[in-house]
Amino acid sequence: MARVLSGTRPTGKLHLGNLLGALENYKKLQGEDAFFMIADLHALTTEYEDKTKIAENVMEVVVDYLASGLDPDQCTMFVQSEVLEHANLALLFSMITPLGWLERNPTYKDQLRELKGKDLHTHGFLGYPVLQAADIAIYKAEKVPVGEDQLPHLELTREIIRRFTHLYGKKVFPEPEAVLTQAPKVPGLDGRKMSKSYDNCIYLADSKDAVTKKVKTMVTDPARKIRSDKGHPEVCPVYFYHKLFNKDQALTVAKECKNAERGCVDCKMEMAAKLNEFMDPIRERRESWMKKKTEVCEILKRGAKRAREVAGETLKETLRAMGLAS
Ligand code: TRP
Ligand code: SF4
Repeated sequence: MARVLSGTRPTGKLHLGNLLGALENYKKLQGEDAFFMIADLHALTTEYEDKTKIAENVMEVVVDYLASGLDPDQCTMFVQSEVLEHANLALLFSMITPLGWLERNPTYKDQLRELKGKDLHTHGFLGYPVLQAADIAIYKAEKVPVGEDQLPHLELTREIIRRFTHLYGKKVFPEPEAVLTQAPKVPGLDGRKMSKSYDNCIYLADSKDAVTKKVKTMVTDPARKIRSDKGHPEVCPVYFYHKLFNKDQALTVAKECKNAERGCVDCKMEMAAKLNEFMDPIRERRESWMKKKTEVCEILKRGAKRAREVAGETLKETLRAMGLAS
Protein backbone atom coordinates (compact mmCIF):
# COMPACT_ATOMS: atom_id res chain seq x y z
CA MET A 1 0.00 0.00 0.00
CA ALA A 2 1.34 3.40 -0.91
CA ARG A 3 1.60 6.13 1.66
CA VAL A 4 -0.47 9.09 0.52
CA LEU A 5 -0.63 12.63 1.87
CA SER A 6 -2.39 15.75 0.74
CA GLY A 7 -3.89 18.84 2.25
CA THR A 8 -6.15 21.79 1.71
CA ARG A 9 -5.79 25.28 3.13
CA PRO A 10 -8.82 26.26 5.18
CA THR A 11 -9.46 29.62 3.55
CA GLY A 12 -13.18 28.99 2.98
CA LYS A 13 -15.64 26.51 1.60
CA LEU A 14 -14.50 24.16 -1.15
CA HIS A 15 -15.76 24.59 -4.71
CA LEU A 16 -16.24 22.38 -7.76
CA GLY A 17 -12.70 23.15 -8.90
CA ASN A 18 -11.33 21.73 -5.64
CA LEU A 19 -13.63 18.75 -5.93
CA LEU A 20 -12.69 17.78 -9.45
CA GLY A 21 -9.08 18.93 -9.24
CA ALA A 22 -8.05 17.24 -6.01
CA LEU A 23 -10.81 15.67 -3.91
CA GLU A 24 -11.80 13.15 -6.58
CA ASN A 25 -8.24 11.91 -6.42
CA TYR A 26 -8.25 11.84 -2.63
CA LYS A 27 -11.27 9.59 -2.89
CA LYS A 28 -9.59 7.23 -5.32
CA LEU A 29 -6.56 6.95 -3.05
CA GLN A 30 -8.30 6.75 0.31
CA GLY A 31 -8.07 2.96 0.33
CA GLU A 32 -4.28 3.23 0.40
CA ASP A 33 -2.47 4.35 3.54
CA ALA A 34 -3.79 7.88 3.18
CA PHE A 35 -3.48 11.06 5.27
CA PHE A 36 -5.58 14.10 4.41
CA MET A 37 -4.94 17.21 6.42
CA ILE A 38 -6.41 20.64 6.81
CA ALA A 39 -3.39 22.88 6.35
CA ASP A 40 -4.23 25.58 8.86
CA LEU A 41 -0.59 26.64 9.30
CA HIS A 42 -0.42 27.22 5.58
CA ALA A 43 -3.58 29.32 5.81
CA LEU A 44 -1.84 31.37 8.47
CA THR A 45 0.96 32.32 6.07
CA THR A 46 -1.46 34.63 4.27
CA GLU A 47 -4.24 35.12 6.85
CA TYR A 48 -2.13 35.85 9.92
CA GLU A 49 -3.80 39.20 10.50
CA ASP A 50 -7.30 37.79 10.87
CA LYS A 51 -7.55 35.17 13.56
CA THR A 52 -11.35 34.98 13.51
CA LYS A 53 -11.87 32.77 10.47
CA ILE A 54 -9.35 29.95 10.40
CA ALA A 55 -10.99 27.67 12.98
CA GLU A 56 -14.40 28.15 11.36
CA ASN A 57 -12.94 27.39 7.95
CA VAL A 58 -11.28 24.23 9.28
CA MET A 59 -14.75 22.93 10.07
CA GLU A 60 -16.04 23.86 6.60
CA VAL A 61 -13.21 21.99 4.92
CA VAL A 62 -13.53 18.80 6.99
CA VAL A 63 -17.24 18.77 6.34
CA ASP A 64 -16.55 19.27 2.63
CA TYR A 65 -14.08 16.37 2.79
CA LEU A 66 -16.73 14.16 4.38
CA ALA A 67 -19.46 15.41 2.04
CA SER A 68 -17.41 14.67 -1.03
CA GLY A 69 -17.19 11.05 0.05
CA LEU A 70 -14.02 10.70 2.08
CA ASP A 71 -14.56 7.99 4.65
CA PRO A 72 -12.97 8.55 8.07
CA ASP A 73 -12.73 4.80 8.56
CA GLN A 74 -10.61 4.42 5.47
CA CYS A 75 -8.26 7.40 5.70
CA THR A 76 -6.72 9.62 8.34
CA MET A 77 -8.08 13.17 8.49
CA PHE A 78 -6.43 15.70 10.75
CA VAL A 79 -5.53 19.33 11.34
CA GLN A 80 -1.92 20.27 10.57
CA SER A 81 -1.29 22.45 13.63
CA GLU A 82 -2.35 19.60 15.92
CA VAL A 83 0.63 17.57 14.81
CA LEU A 84 3.58 19.63 16.01
CA GLU A 85 6.07 17.42 14.19
CA HIS A 86 5.25 19.24 10.93
CA ALA A 87 6.57 22.53 12.29
CA ASN A 88 9.56 20.79 13.78
CA LEU A 89 10.57 19.09 10.54
CA ALA A 90 9.98 22.34 8.64
CA LEU A 91 12.53 24.01 10.90
CA LEU A 92 15.05 21.23 10.28
CA PHE A 93 14.44 21.46 6.51
CA SER A 94 14.86 25.23 6.65
CA MET A 95 18.50 24.68 7.65
CA ILE A 96 19.29 23.01 4.35
CA THR A 97 17.02 24.90 1.96
CA PRO A 98 18.87 27.54 -0.06
CA LEU A 99 17.06 30.89 -0.11
CA GLY A 100 17.44 31.06 -3.88
CA TRP A 101 15.17 28.02 -4.32
CA LEU A 102 12.41 29.79 -2.41
CA GLU A 103 12.85 33.18 -4.05
CA ARG A 104 12.74 31.64 -7.52
CA ASN A 105 9.57 29.63 -6.81
CA PRO A 106 7.02 30.76 -9.44
CA THR A 107 4.05 30.31 -7.08
CA TYR A 108 5.70 32.64 -4.58
CA LYS A 109 6.17 35.36 -7.17
CA ASP A 110 2.61 34.96 -8.52
CA GLN A 111 1.06 35.16 -5.08
CA LEU A 112 3.04 38.22 -4.08
CA ARG A 113 1.63 39.88 -7.17
CA GLU A 114 -1.92 38.58 -6.77
CA LEU A 115 -2.43 39.19 -3.06
CA LYS A 116 -1.36 42.79 -3.21
CA GLY A 117 -3.50 43.93 -0.30
CA LYS A 118 -1.49 41.86 2.16
CA ASP A 119 2.00 42.23 3.52
CA LEU A 120 3.51 38.92 2.54
CA HIS A 121 7.15 39.84 3.03
CA THR A 122 7.43 37.41 5.88
CA HIS A 123 9.69 34.52 6.72
CA GLY A 124 6.65 32.24 6.98
CA PHE A 125 5.32 33.06 3.53
CA LEU A 126 8.67 32.62 1.83
CA GLY A 127 9.03 29.34 3.68
CA TYR A 128 5.61 28.04 2.60
CA PRO A 129 7.10 25.28 0.41
CA VAL A 130 9.48 24.20 3.19
CA LEU A 131 6.51 23.55 5.44
CA GLN A 132 4.78 21.74 2.59
CA ALA A 133 7.86 19.58 2.07
CA ALA A 134 7.77 18.76 5.79
CA ASP A 135 4.04 17.87 5.58
CA ILE A 136 4.84 15.31 2.93
CA ALA A 137 8.14 14.01 4.25
CA ILE A 138 7.03 13.58 7.85
CA TYR A 139 4.75 10.74 6.62
CA LYS A 140 7.31 9.49 4.09
CA ALA A 141 4.53 9.96 1.55
CA GLU A 142 5.07 8.53 -1.92
CA LYS A 143 1.95 9.87 -3.60
CA VAL A 144 0.54 13.37 -3.35
CA PRO A 145 -2.82 14.00 -5.02
CA VAL A 146 -2.90 17.68 -6.02
CA GLY A 147 -4.02 20.08 -8.70
CA GLU A 148 -1.59 21.13 -11.40
CA ASP A 149 -0.87 24.44 -9.67
CA GLN A 150 0.98 22.55 -6.93
CA LEU A 151 3.61 21.00 -9.20
CA PRO A 152 6.31 23.62 -8.47
CA HIS A 153 5.84 23.00 -4.74
CA LEU A 154 6.15 19.29 -5.23
CA GLU A 155 9.32 19.73 -7.24
CA LEU A 156 10.78 21.79 -4.38
CA THR A 157 9.83 19.03 -1.95
CA ARG A 158 11.75 16.55 -4.05
CA GLU A 159 14.75 18.88 -4.22
CA ILE A 160 14.82 19.35 -0.46
CA ILE A 161 14.57 15.59 0.07
CA ARG A 162 17.36 14.93 -2.42
CA ARG A 163 19.54 17.47 -0.68
CA PHE A 164 18.81 15.88 2.68
CA THR A 165 19.75 12.44 1.40
CA HIS A 166 22.90 13.83 -0.18
CA LEU A 167 24.00 15.76 2.92
CA TYR A 168 23.34 13.09 5.52
CA GLY A 169 23.93 10.00 3.41
CA LYS A 170 20.77 8.41 4.65
CA LYS A 171 17.56 7.84 2.74
CA VAL A 172 15.01 8.78 5.37
CA PHE A 173 12.43 10.09 2.89
CA PRO A 174 11.22 8.70 -0.44
CA GLU A 175 10.81 11.18 -3.31
CA PRO A 176 7.09 11.79 -3.60
CA GLU A 177 5.21 12.03 -6.86
CA ALA A 178 2.16 14.08 -7.75
CA VAL A 179 -1.05 12.32 -8.71
CA LEU A 180 -3.04 14.62 -10.99
CA THR A 181 -6.72 14.23 -11.87
CA GLN A 182 -7.82 13.68 -15.43
CA ALA A 183 -10.29 16.56 -15.35
CA PRO A 184 -8.70 19.66 -16.85
CA LYS A 185 -9.03 22.97 -15.02
CA VAL A 186 -12.65 23.66 -14.22
CA PRO A 187 -13.83 27.02 -15.55
CA GLY A 188 -15.64 29.38 -13.21
CA LEU A 189 -18.79 31.36 -13.98
CA ASP A 190 -16.80 33.94 -15.93
CA GLY A 191 -14.86 31.37 -17.96
CA ARG A 192 -11.58 31.93 -16.10
CA LYS A 193 -10.20 29.19 -13.88
CA MET A 194 -12.50 28.64 -10.89
CA SER A 195 -10.93 30.40 -7.94
CA LYS A 196 -12.11 32.06 -4.78
CA SER A 197 -10.08 35.15 -5.56
CA TYR A 198 -12.03 35.62 -8.83
CA ASP A 199 -15.39 35.27 -7.10
CA ASN A 200 -16.56 32.89 -9.85
CA CYS A 201 -17.15 29.69 -7.86
CA ILE A 202 -19.86 27.13 -7.40
CA TYR A 203 -19.42 25.85 -3.83
CA LEU A 204 -20.20 22.33 -2.66
CA ALA A 205 -22.33 24.01 -0.01
CA ASP A 206 -24.44 25.98 -2.52
CA SER A 207 -28.15 25.19 -2.47
CA LYS A 208 -29.98 23.98 -5.57
CA ASP A 209 -31.40 27.43 -6.14
CA ALA A 210 -28.05 29.11 -5.69
CA VAL A 211 -26.50 26.77 -8.25
CA THR A 212 -29.28 27.41 -10.78
CA LYS A 213 -28.97 31.16 -10.30
CA LYS A 214 -25.21 31.03 -10.73
CA VAL A 215 -25.46 28.92 -13.86
CA LYS A 216 -27.82 31.51 -15.34
CA THR A 217 -25.11 34.14 -14.99
CA MET A 218 -22.45 32.04 -16.71
CA VAL A 219 -20.70 33.40 -19.76
CA THR A 220 -21.33 31.53 -23.02
CA ASP A 221 -19.84 31.68 -26.49
CA PRO A 222 -19.46 35.45 -27.09
CA ALA A 223 -20.12 34.91 -30.81
CA ARG A 224 -23.75 33.97 -30.06
CA LYS A 225 -25.37 37.36 -29.68
CA ILE A 226 -28.79 36.24 -30.83
CA ARG A 227 -30.44 32.84 -30.90
CA SER A 228 -29.92 32.35 -34.65
CA ASP A 229 -26.12 32.82 -34.35
CA LYS A 230 -24.26 29.55 -34.68
CA GLY A 231 -22.26 28.66 -31.58
CA HIS A 232 -18.83 27.25 -30.74
CA PRO A 233 -19.39 24.90 -27.81
CA GLU A 234 -15.68 24.23 -27.36
CA VAL A 235 -15.16 27.80 -26.09
CA CYS A 236 -18.27 27.78 -23.89
CA PRO A 237 -17.91 26.98 -20.18
CA VAL A 238 -21.51 25.78 -20.06
CA TYR A 239 -20.60 23.12 -22.61
CA PHE A 240 -17.57 22.14 -20.53
CA TYR A 241 -19.98 21.36 -17.69
CA HIS A 242 -22.26 19.40 -20.03
CA LYS A 243 -19.28 17.19 -20.85
CA LEU A 244 -18.72 16.54 -17.16
CA PHE A 245 -22.24 16.24 -15.80
CA ASN A 246 -24.40 15.50 -18.83
CA LYS A 247 -22.09 13.13 -20.68
CA ASP A 248 -24.80 11.22 -22.55
CA GLN A 249 -26.22 14.36 -24.11
CA ALA A 250 -22.99 16.29 -24.68
CA LEU A 251 -22.72 15.40 -28.38
CA THR A 252 -26.30 16.47 -29.01
CA VAL A 253 -25.72 19.71 -27.10
CA ALA A 254 -22.67 20.47 -29.23
CA LYS A 255 -24.46 19.71 -32.48
CA GLU A 256 -27.51 21.79 -31.61
CA CYS A 257 -25.34 24.67 -30.45
CA LYS A 258 -23.32 24.64 -33.67
CA ASN A 259 -26.49 24.67 -35.75
CA ALA A 260 -28.23 27.31 -33.65
CA GLU A 261 -30.86 24.76 -32.74
CA ARG A 262 -30.75 25.45 -29.01
CA GLY A 263 -30.82 28.64 -27.01
CA CYS A 264 -28.32 29.39 -24.28
CA VAL A 265 -31.02 29.86 -21.65
CA ASP A 266 -32.44 26.35 -22.19
CA CYS A 267 -28.98 24.95 -22.49
CA LYS A 268 -28.05 26.40 -19.10
CA MET A 269 -31.21 25.13 -17.43
CA GLU A 270 -30.58 21.62 -18.70
CA MET A 271 -27.01 21.76 -17.41
CA ALA A 272 -28.01 23.22 -14.03
CA ALA A 273 -30.45 20.33 -13.53
CA LYS A 274 -27.73 17.77 -14.25
CA LEU A 275 -25.20 19.55 -12.09
CA ASN A 276 -27.69 19.65 -9.23
CA GLU A 277 -28.34 15.95 -9.66
CA PHE A 278 -24.61 15.37 -9.28
CA MET A 279 -24.40 17.66 -6.25
CA ASP A 280 -27.48 16.35 -4.40
CA PRO A 281 -25.78 13.49 -2.54
CA ILE A 282 -22.87 15.79 -1.65
CA ARG A 283 -25.29 18.37 -0.25
CA GLU A 284 -27.16 15.73 1.71
CA ARG A 285 -24.00 14.38 3.30
CA ARG A 286 -22.85 17.91 4.01
CA GLU A 287 -26.04 18.81 5.85
CA SER A 288 -26.01 15.64 7.86
CA TRP A 289 -22.37 16.10 8.99
CA MET A 290 -23.02 19.75 9.82
CA LYS A 291 -25.50 18.51 12.44
CA LYS A 292 -22.90 16.18 13.95
CA LYS A 293 -20.08 18.52 14.79
CA THR A 294 -19.04 16.62 17.92
CA GLU A 295 -18.54 13.54 15.80
CA VAL A 296 -16.53 15.56 13.30
CA CYS A 297 -14.27 16.79 16.11
CA GLU A 298 -13.83 13.19 17.25
CA ILE A 299 -12.74 12.19 13.74
CA LEU A 300 -10.12 14.93 13.76
CA LYS A 301 -8.90 13.99 17.20
CA ARG A 302 -8.48 10.36 16.21
CA GLY A 303 -6.78 11.45 13.01
CA ALA A 304 -4.27 13.66 14.80
CA LYS A 305 -3.42 10.86 17.20
CA ARG A 306 -2.64 8.43 14.39
CA ALA A 307 -0.74 11.13 12.48
CA ARG A 308 1.37 11.97 15.54
CA GLU A 309 2.41 8.35 15.92
CA VAL A 310 3.77 8.16 12.40
CA ALA A 311 5.21 11.67 12.40
CA GLY A 312 6.94 11.21 15.75
CA GLU A 313 8.88 8.22 14.45
CA THR A 314 10.02 10.05 11.35
CA LEU A 315 11.09 13.07 13.36
CA LYS A 316 13.28 10.91 15.61
CA GLU A 317 14.86 9.34 12.59
CA THR A 318 15.50 12.75 11.05
CA LEU A 319 17.10 14.17 14.19
CA ARG A 320 19.38 11.16 14.34
CA ALA A 321 20.34 11.46 10.68
CA MET A 322 21.25 15.13 11.27
CA GLY A 323 23.40 14.27 14.24
CA LEU A 324 21.10 15.78 16.88
CA ALA A 325 19.86 12.85 18.90
CA SER A 326 21.08 9.36 19.48
N1 TRP B 1 -0.25 24.19 -0.87
C1 TRP B 1 -1.43 23.37 -0.97
C2 TRP B 1 -2.54 24.18 -1.64
O1 TRP B 1 -2.54 25.38 -1.59
C3 TRP B 1 -1.90 22.88 0.37
C4 TRP B 1 -0.90 21.97 1.01
C5 TRP B 1 -0.21 22.20 2.15
C6 TRP B 1 -0.51 20.68 0.55
N2 TRP B 1 0.59 21.17 2.44
C7 TRP B 1 0.44 20.22 1.49
C8 TRP B 1 -0.85 19.91 -0.56
C9 TRP B 1 1.07 18.98 1.33
C10 TRP B 1 -0.23 18.66 -0.71
C11 TRP B 1 0.73 18.21 0.23
O2 TRP B 1 -3.44 23.59 -2.19
FE1 SF4 C 1 -22.90 27.44 -24.66
FE2 SF4 C 1 -25.10 26.00 -24.74
FE3 SF4 C 1 -25.12 28.54 -25.53
FE4 SF4 C 1 -23.86 26.73 -26.98
S1 SF4 C 1 -26.06 26.80 -26.57
S2 SF4 C 1 -23.08 28.74 -26.44
S3 SF4 C 1 -23.08 25.35 -25.41
S4 SF4 C 1 -24.74 27.81 -23.48
